[in-house]
Amino acid sequence: MRDMLRGERVYQKIWENRKQRSPGRSPGAPGLNCLVLGGGGREYAIAWRLARCDSVATIDVTPGNGGLVLFTRLLDFRPDDVGRIEEHVTASHIDLGIVGPDELIAKGMGDVLRRSGIAVVGASREASRVEWSKKFAKELMDEAGVPTARWEAFADAANAAQALDRWGAPVIVKADGLAAGKGVTLARTLDEAREALATPPANSGVVILEEPLEGEEASLQALVDGETVVALPPARDFKRAHDGDAGPNTGGMGAFSPTAILPDDGAQDIANELIAPIAKALLRRGVPYRGVLYAGLMRTRDGWRVLEYNARFGDPEAEVSLPRVGGDFARLMQALGEGKLASYVATNPMRFSQRAFVDVVLCAENYPGPPKTGMRIDGLDRLPDGVYAFHGATRRDAAGNVLVSGGRVIHIVASGETVAQARDLAYAGAERVSFEGKFYRSDIARQEVAVA
Ligand code: AMP
Ligand code: GLY
Repeated sequence: MRDMLRGERVYQKIWENRKQRSPGRSPGAPGLNCLVLGGGGREYAIAWRLARCDSVATIDVTPGNGGLVLFTRLLDFRPDDVGRIEEHVTASHIDLGIVGPDELIAKGMGDVLRRSGIAVVGASREASRVEWSKKFAKELMDEAGVPTARWEAFADAANAAQALDRWGAPVIVKADGLAAGKGVTLARTLDEAREALATPPANSGVVILEEPLEGEEASLQALVDGETVVALPPARDFKRAHDGDAGPNTGGMGAFSPTAILPDDGAQDIANELIAPIAKALLRRGVPYRGVLYAGLMRTRDGWRVLEYNARFGDPEAEVSLPRVGGDFARLMQALGEGKLASYVATNPMRFSQRAFVDVVLCAENYPGPPKTGMRIDGLDRLPDGVYAFHGATRRDAAGNVLVSGGRVIHIVASGETVAQARDLAYAGAERVSFEGKFYRSDIARQEVAVA
């Protein structure tokens, strides 16, 4: 329990600070007042990491979840309620705002917070086009000379269907917009490609056909402030619902960091090669990027290729990489949010913790389809030492029970000296937490452990 208790004490301190200062928080009082928009495992990881910083006084979150309520203040309005957010930033003297989910970034909540004059980690709506338009991302990669799969865009599915004979199979079919990890189909035959083009989301709007690449995937998140690019600890995630990469695509079933395929000491070089040119290209277009830019990468026989960019922290990558970010994370976020990242890291060089982290996601029945919700979660108080429950989709009822409220329910996050150790612990934790219909992959990080 030692780690957990240490964590709880930090939470306690923040909670007490917050109570003392709220609602009468005043400008200039010591400590950062933070606002996190979102309420999944990624936002839990962000708040959890902020909570471990001496520089932080308070953390407010909307909409939050049944775990965040323990150590942050959950706000009673939606994360896209522009009027209430603006009021809140002023009334509660918020210093730092962090926008978690892609939909809120794409809606321009980064811009909304920035208008309030605070430090904001969250790309502008325009800059986040790299995530919400795959066609735009592809154009930018070509312009910036970033290696990616050969591609062709079409105005709609009918036009793409006409080009299928020319493309041949196998072929990747991608819908242009945000699709929660569900917009990509690897079609092994032309019939499968036709079927993908006839089903949502590819059957409406712009479609991309792409050359299938083969290799191993890694996720590289970087802090981007104009031209300054600072790599975060690389991670790997697991997108398919079932063991052995079977089943449908999901938001992510687990993750781990570090990884042998993209070691920590190579992260900055790869970020310079595959993320910095995009930051520069955006700047040239008059769209400076300020936030987290995440590249989904594949290591092919011919070297690294970029599969996609996301304009935010990954989920579940944040859960394993943020605990590995050394130093005062809140000050780092503040520097990024104020456009002072370069000078901050010049005096406070980025350090990664040597500890390994593994995240195993406990999912609700039927995920990634519409999940069954409302079941009670037990065993959260029985986690082994060094194991954390990062809440994803939970809520509390009036009696304080924790209930399932969505698909990716609880991230069991464990640390160890090695990935193997962290993995064993995470699985020990995953077994102790129970709810009706719970399922999880049993092979998160297995390959990494076998090669290590
Ligand atoms: P994306 O949303 O573009 O990252 O695609 C989601 C997932 O689809 C990726 O993580 C890959 O597993 C797979 N994928 C996307 N593009 C390709 C490609 N060109 N070749 C092989 N797999 C791909
Ligand atoms: N783990 C994939 C994502 O965050 O998009």
